[in-house]
Amino acid sequence: MPELKNFIDRASKFIEQQRQMFGDFSTATTSSEAPSQAKEIEEEITSNSASIATEKENSPQIERMSDPAELIANCKTCDELKALCEKSEVLRTDLENTNLVFGVGNPNADLMIVGEAPGANEDKQGEPFVGRAGQLLDKIMEAVNFKRNEIYIANILKHRPPDNRNPTAEERAKSLPYLLKQIELIDPKLILCVGKVSGTTLLGKDEALKNMRQKFHAFHGRELMVTYHPAALLRNPNWKRPTWEDVQLLRKRYDELAGK
Ligand code: URA
Ligand code: URA
Repeated sequence: MPELKNFIDRASKFIEQQRQMFGDFSTATTSSEAPSQAKEIEEEITSNSASIATEKENSPQIERMSDPAELIANCKTCDELKALCEKSEVLRTDLENTNLVFGVGNPNADLMIVGEAPGANEDKQGEPFVGRAGQLLDKIMEAVNFKRNEIYIANILKHRPPDNRNPTAEERAKSLPYLLKQIELIDPKLILCVGKVSGTTLLGKDEALKNMRQKFHAFHGRELMVTYHPAALLRNPNWKRPTWEDVQLLRKRYDELAGK
């Protein structure tokens, strides 16, 4: 019964949203009361647009506060955004009990690196790029004189996908508004996307990596470069040379933009 499942999903989401906003329901709900409460919720979420409009007028605060776009827009600092991400169920993957991997580094960085999704080590430590690929990324950046604590590092996804599979289009779409806000708050001059998933997600088009690299793409008033993912370099050392060329170009552009 897909409809019933859909309804239950929506109802649990609704309850969870209410709980996050207002705490646990103040009146205890016994199991015999539950069906009638579920019925009310069903009415609430399946009501037609006219009654939604009335509802909005009666409780404008509630309607506004439950709009994720508005919650994101209201974040004034990275700490506020991180706190919002902590409670955002939409950022979770189907792997249970993962930790939020929000991002790390200099909050005033002029260079931001965007990877794909946390792996096992990242999930454990709550920090992006700390495993083997992360250590290689540090080495690559150090080779062009960027220290890890000078820059800012984040991922498209903020939770680990199961079995390190590629993030789905849906997961990427749900996570993107949070990442775009994070970019706005860090306000880097340059963004380096590592790997095809990161590059195609931010550029919003499906391109081969070799067609995206070696140039600066316009991106919301900033410049964005795409290069190979360090994990891809571990599998295919032939990509080390072009990556080296890319990061040298990146360093040159960073200096031209007078990165502070
Ligand atoms: N790969 C990524 O894309 N991100 C990480 O944080 C770690 C590995
Ligand atoms: N293909 C990818 O998906 N990523 C890389 O980094 C290189 C090739």
